[in-house]
Amino acid sequence: MRSLPLLFLGVFFTIASSWVGIVLVSNIQLGGLEPATPELTDAEGNPIAGVFFEDPETGEMRLGLNQDGVEAWPVPLVGAAQRGKRVYEQMGCLYCHSQQVRRQGFGSDYERGWGERQSVARDYIHQERVMLGTMRTGPDLSNVGLRYSELWQHQHLFNPKITSRDSLMPRYAFLYEVRPISETRGPSPNAIEIPEDYHPGPGELEVIPTQRARDLVAYLMNLRQDYDLPEMRREQ
Ligand code: HEC
Repeated sequence: MRSLPLLFLGVFFTIASSWVGIVLVSNIQLGGLEPATPELTDAEGNPIAGVFFEDPETGEMRLGLNQDGVEAWPVPLVGAAQRGKRVYEQMGCLYCHSQQVRRQGFGSDYERGWGERQSVARDYIHQERVMLGTMRTGPDLSNVGLRYSELWQHQHLFNPKITSRDSLMPRYAFLYEVRPISETRGPSPNAIEIPEDYHPGPGELEVIPTQRARDLVAYLMNLRQDYDLPEMRREQ
């Protein structure tokens, strides 16, 4: 029993040192990260943040704006995409999908087409809960918004086998309403196209995304790390 204080001291130092190493040091290093703005320049003085696009009015190349009209990246999620993140959390997509592209030499993420640059801490600064993920039963989704259309996403969620023939991903058909086509009004303009082989039946049925499905797809379409950040590496 004489060594009891020593034991407590040992436990205390173990917990304290891991807290310092994992929480405190990370917070000092990364806690103050701000969105990148064009004030951040490279050695030649060129702005390095943001996505360049051709201004339709002047024809000049300029940096993209976020919704406040400020040139700053990354852009926080708003509206449907923000609600969709909640659906992503609730559906457990995290258990099979990561959202972090590893740099060249640390896996084959580039070769698989999951991104063109590694993900960096600044990509996640607006996210209260970061969906980094630990398992990759399915592909990484950091840039999935750049890969497919909205229709593709709806078809895939309704039944993954429509778009990916031997998919192991569970169906999320419960996010869709399957109902008879109205005899008076005809097919709904909101119905998603389902290929013949996968059509729910029998009878004339249509598949309508619920609000949650629309939100989730808005979120997926917004998953993209295609803007430039000062600390990124884009080696191929
Ligand atoms: C049990 C594991 C599992 C879960 C849970 C899961 N997925 Fe998947 N997902 C996969 C697999 C495996 C694939 C690859 C085959 C395919 O395309 O369906 C995939 C593919 C995808 C793709 C296509 C990615 C690409 O680049 O081709 C998207 C988008 C996607 N999943 C979104 C989701 C969303 C959103 C959720 C939650 C609602 C989810 N997944 C839940 C396993 C899963």
